[in-house]
Amino acid sequence: MSWRKYLLIPRLTLASIGAPRSQTRAWERYWDGISRLGPDGDVLWDADEPAEAEMLAAMLSRHADPGLPMVDLGCGSGRQVHALTKFGSRVIGIDGSAAAVARAGSGAAVVFRVADIASGGLGERLHDEIGDANVHIRGVLHVLDDDARRAVAANIAALLGERGTLYLCETNHTGDPLDYLLDQGARPTRLPPLVHRLIRAGVRAPRRFGPEEVAQVFPAGGWETVEQGATEVYGIPLEPGGPVQRIPAWYAVVRTSRRPSRR
Ligand SMILES: C[S@@+](CC[C@H](N)C(=O)[O-])C[C@H]1O[C@@H](n2cnc3c(N)ncnc32)[C@H](O)[C@@H]1O
Repeated sequence: MSWRKYLLIPRLTLASIGAPRSQTRAWERYWDGISRLGPDGDVLWDADEPAEAEMLAAMLSRHADPGLPMVDLGCGSGRQVHALTKFGSRVIGIDGSAAAVARAGSGAAVVFRVADIASGGLGERLHDEIGDANVHIRGVLHVLDDDARRAVAANIAALLGERGTLYLCETNHTGDPLDYLLDQGARPTRLPPLVHRLIRAGVRAPRRFGPEEVAQVFPAGGWETVEQGATEVYGIPLEPGGPVQRIPAWYAVVRTSRRPSRR
């Protein structure tokens, strides 16, 4: 990718003046500033495209036990939590931002909680409460550093137990975060409003999450990757009237390797 991406740095620095370094505070600040959700809203990844829902349905129907509860880690404003009620006896959405969870509507089979999904023991505590569960995660591992990714994987292992299945879908942009921002319409003279909101709040640009990262975070030995491949995450148009964004992504269906042998 071009050296021109480095020309973004002054614009990014200007946009993020005063933003917190802590990602917990940055996400809270981001969600606090959101007024509108959905395809015409303020949230970049809230496109609600049928193709993504169809992919999720196909994977969960093929691989997940529908009798188990479902946990959506890093659920944001909860769009997927509501969609996941078709695939679980109950759904718990967890996000680190109270402002995000406050935007998630209620529903008979859904519960929302505020927690750091990388905090030690979270998976065990939830497992004590609900037993083996399926887990869904979209667009969250890509914003976490390596330590947090490992900590989330440990919580997922505890939650899945012997019977649960993880479905993950993460962006897998092949460049560095500056390349990603260029592809999202960032220019040295202007940041698209959807991107500006994130930078202004202090949220860091995502890092790729593809097959190498699946193997690092869910290594063979403790984990079995049942299926994985390239897909797309959809984003809302960067400018009014523009096209829906199709962001290169990677999906994986993963289980712990301590499952009882299949019948
Ligand atoms: C890109 S958004 C994706 C939201 C949602 N999964 C979706 O696809 O609509 C990432 C979300 O992860 C949450 N998040 C980031 N780090 C977290 C952490 N350590 N614990 C809990 N939530 C976290 C953020 O607050 C944000 O809502």
